[in-house]
Amino acid sequence: MSINYAEKIPNNVDLGSDRQLQRALERWQPAFLNWWGEMGPDGDFQAKDVYLRTATSVDAKGWATYGHVKMPDYRWGIFLADQVKDRTIGFGDNFGQPVWQQVPGEFRSDLRRLIVTQGDTEPASVEQQRMLAYTCPSLYDMRNLFQVNVEEGRHLWAMVFLLHAYFGRDGREEAEELLERHAGDINNPRILTTFNEPIDDWMSFFSFTYFTDRDGKFQLKMLAESAFDPLSRTCRFMLTEEAHHMFVGETGLGRVIKRALEVMKELNTDDPQRIRDHGAMDLGLVQKYINFWYSSSLDLFGADQSTNAAAYFANGIKGRPDEDKFDDHIEAETTFSLEEPTEDGKDVQSIEVPTRNAMNLLARQGYSRDCDIGVVRWNRMIRKAGVDFDIRLPSDRFRRTVGPFAGFHFAPDGSPIGKDAYDSNLDDWIPSETDKAHVKAQMKQVTEPGKMAAWIAPPDRGINNNPVDHDYVKL
Ligand SMILES: [Fe+2]
Ligand SMILES: [Fe+2]
Repeated sequence: MSINYAEKIPNNVDLGSDRQLQRALERWQPAFLNWWGEMGPDGDFQAKDVYLRTATSVDAKGWATYGHVKMPDYRWGIFLADQVKDRTIGFGDNFGQPVWQQVPGEFRSDLRRLIVTQGDTEPASVEQQRMLAYTCPSLYDMRNLFQVNVEEGRHLWAMVFLLHAYFGRDGREEAEELLERHAGDINNPRILTTFNEPIDDWMSFFSFTYFTDRDGKFQLKMLAESAFDPLSRTCRFMLTEEAHHMFVGETGLGRVIKRALEVMKELNTDDPQRIRDHGAMDLGLVQKYINFWYSSSLDLFGADQSTNAAAYFANGIKGRPDEDKFDDHIEAETTFSLEEPTEDGKDVQSIEVPTRNAMNLLARQGYSRDCDIGVVRWNRMIRKAGVDFDIRLPSDRFRRTVGPFAGFHFAPDGSPIGKDAYDSNLDDWIPSETDKAHVKAQMKQVTEPGKMAAWIAPPDRGINNNPVDHDYVKL
């Protein structure tokens, strides 16, 4: 079904035929706009015309249009991927049975919790990033930030639609609470820790969009497998939008690396201090941001062994990312081997667990492989410049607060290490106060079209075939 833009809330779910739902969502809409005004991008950016893409169809080819709009006028709406005819459950105990168009009573609270947790991350990231436009390295980057922000707003709409349409009164209450919790609020924080950390510099923003938005991609991929068909269709379309967010992260970090290489060549040095004195970020600094954000994003997958995850899989609520690529979709009797530290924390041993209990780990492994794709590209660029430096994802044992390695001390290369040695080395592994001060000092707003801050190279091309110096935000 095509998207109806004539309605107050653009949608492709024939909202006009369900008056009760339509009224409920039209009541939530002013609360959302209020939230956007208060917690969305700070300052007078809201009054400026931004070159944004808006979804106009759910057809993978040609699904969006581009044009200058003021953010508060963005047409947030409810878009579900087309229904797959005769779709059946793809995994677990109910494999092969028809998918559900309504929520089965016995899975109601599990599904609600999953939708609320996903929904909570969407506005959280907008709140975390609300000051970033003041320090954007270019107008192009400012535009990308706002694009990501409005789409996270739309992802909130997507989850709120499901809550209103399928969870009755509880759902309506949850939808209200999604606007009441705020990132970093001491009294009423967002649900997941990572979504309460401020993202107040662009190194963090690019790392967040590369690593944390990618966790989002994997969560959506798992929910897209769900037997609850409206959830599956909602997530499938969200994935289309999500790709750009990770593009912003990959090209952002790539441009920082490219600039570092240019400065190294220009000064004929690999001395980090000289590179920094020149206003750029050295490769070691980029590695530290990667160490920090990758390790904190791994925690978002939950414990490696989880009976909850096993139950979600058994019941058809949440599958594995790209479930069709696995041979066995039932995994009733199979086992999977995973790693845990020995009791004294000085070594690692492997143990066999039922595969169903290792669903979080399986998803996380797919995520790590996906993260590695950009790393390979960055390293190719570094090698091409003749520089001897390898960017590496840290071991998944490093700096964990969730799973079997939480509470133990491991170096980024995965080797066990004593607590004292860990503490004294940490400043060499993740951004230290000195590193952060350097990054902060480079965060100065650049808004002349086509100009870039000294620490980042220009992108290879602009947005939607426009030149890099296009007037992306009319300030
Ligand atoms: Fe999102
Ligand atoms: Fe995103």
